[in-house]
Amino acid sequence: MNVSEHHIPRRTAATAALTLALAGLLATTAPAGAAAPAAPAAPAAETAAAAAAAAPDIPLANVKAHLTQLQSIATANGGNRAHGRPGYKASIDYVKAKLDAAGFTTTVQQFTSSGATGYNLIADWPGGDTNQVLMAGAHLDSVSSGPGINDNGSGSAAVLETALAVSRAQFKPAKHLRFAWWGAEELGLVGSKHYVNSLPTTERAKVAGYLNFDMIGSPNPGYFVYDDDPAIEKTFKDYFASIGVPTEIETEGDGRSDHASFKNAGIPVGGLFTGASRTKTSAQAQKWGGTAGQAFDRCYHSSCDTTSNINDTGLDRNSDALAHGVWTLSAGTTEPPPTGDTYENTADVAIPDNGAAVTSTVTVSGRSGNAPAALQVGVDIVHTWRGDLVVDLLAPDGTAYRLKNSSSSDSADNVRATYTVDAAGEAANGAWKLRVQDVASQDTGYINAFRLTF
Ligand code: TRP
Ligand code: ZN
Ligand code: CA
Repeated sequence: MNVSEHHIPRRTAATAALTLALAGLLATTAPAGAAAPAAPAAPAAETAAAAAAAAPDIPLANVKAHLTQLQSIATANGGNRAHGRPGYKASIDYVKAKLDAAGFTTTVQQFTSSGATGYNLIADWPGGDTNQVLMAGAHLDSVSSGPGINDNGSGSAAVLETALAVSRAQFKPAKHLRFAWWGAEELGLVGSKHYVNSLPTTERAKVAGYLNFDMIGSPNPGYFVYDDDPAIEKTFKDYFASIGVPTEIETEGDGRSDHASFKNAGIPVGGLFTGASRTKTSAQAQKWGGTAGQAFDRCYHSSCDTTSNINDTGLDRNSDALAHGVWTLSAGTTEPPPTGDTYENTADVAIPDNGAAVTSTVTVSGRSGNAPAALQVGVDIVHTWRGDLVVDLLAPDGTAYRLKNSSSSDSADNVRATYTVDAAGEAANGAWKLRVQDVASQDTGYINAFRLTF
């Protein structure tokens, strides 16, 4: 793999909480080794090659066409799309066929709940940095008392149409995108819990964020944003502000949808909601329109949750906000292609918890003279708490260059950055090492890759 394929996170206010800013970690400090003086490293180049692409408008007609199909599926299967009923599996088949045709890699994950087989559908968009996965999801099951068009055909259809928009745009985000439709949410978040529990710890650590959409077309809508990860919350609030729609914090039941499964695993979450059985106040009706003193969704969990139970404006705005969130939170700058020659070691090296330093070696040969004054040091460490890590570059003669210090407050995952080191005093040829030491107990990880560009 060439260094040009390696991406660094875009650093904006919107992504700050997902991708911890690098600059503050680069202060010059004492050397790592007792004898070897450490030289300061300059921050990685951060300039964008191109501005982030704006999200497309999500056509309301397309979202509603999916709802019509989900309604037909319910009607043909006893009036619901509930876990364990034929309407649920038919819903999975409908969504999966659309995604397969659009170029997604789809996986159906089975589980058992209340004696019936349940299904999650996972759709990966090929490309992006698989060490930084942005997920968006919705539960696809209804309750057994109705077709579940607002709860949660609305979120399911909007996530589907956003995924199809990713394909139409042939979007190339910096992060890897993964869309999900959960089974058996109505039985207690069963499908999403099963998914999170079945993810290996290393895979869980790669999920940079999960966006949840459960009920986003309520007939008497409010505009509620989940109050969880600040960067995700801000991204959604900024979108609604840009279209002049006031929002409120979602309070109708924290932990009542699939984002709770991710939040419990320490994954940053956010989402949107237009309200369930709670009553719209007169203050809310004044700012949003609709009917004060009436529920946001009078058909919540009822047989009347049909295609008639949707507010088009609410569904349209939330679908566009969803796409904005996916585009904004997955965008990044592509690292400028290296101008020199890249040497790299991609063998994984486990980093013992609160233990001895480990190294990954890149051997450079056949060059003449010294290393450049702007040696590019690519560091890719997968770790569940990057603050535990002290990272140095060791020149062939053993001189240590501190790249990163430990910090008990730096709780973000992973170290994925390109550092610039003045190595003009070092011979180019020889064995260069990346030295990594974990100096605090509990969180662990491994060196994924180490590369030098001359
Ligand atoms: N599907 C959810 C449920 O039946 C709907 C819901 C109620 C919800 N309150 C919520 C979704 C708050 C998100 C946030 O419980
Ligand atoms: Zn529900
Ligand atoms: Ca540790």
